[in-house]
Amino acid sequence: MSTHRIEFPGTAFTPVELPDLASLPLHLTVLDSPVLFGCRSGLCGTCLIEVEAIAGDALEPPDAAERDALEIYAPGNPRARLACQLTLSTDVRIRKIESA
Ligand code: FES
Repeated sequence: MSTHRIEFPGTAFTPVELPDLASLPLHLTVLDSPVLFGCRSGLCGTCLIEVEAIAGDALEPPDAAERDALEIYAPGNPRARLACQLTLSTDVRIRKIESA
């Protein structure tokens, strides 16, 4: 099974390796990471992050429901994603977006 690396630049958190197509809320909740989760259903914005693919393929784009939420929580930020809605398909750098 292939894995993908997640880096957390600008933090002291150690990069992690997760399986291809891993669910981030499932794994990052039990690992040491800066990403916090609330509803896990794309509504609350607690897991708002910026994501940059650093190797391999591009990430799947957000679906319509996630795009609607991102227009509320991070308008105009093309790298913003909800970690609870993201399926890991490549190596990424993740930065937590602090809510206003
Ligand atoms: S945990 Fe609530 S939107 Fe992701």
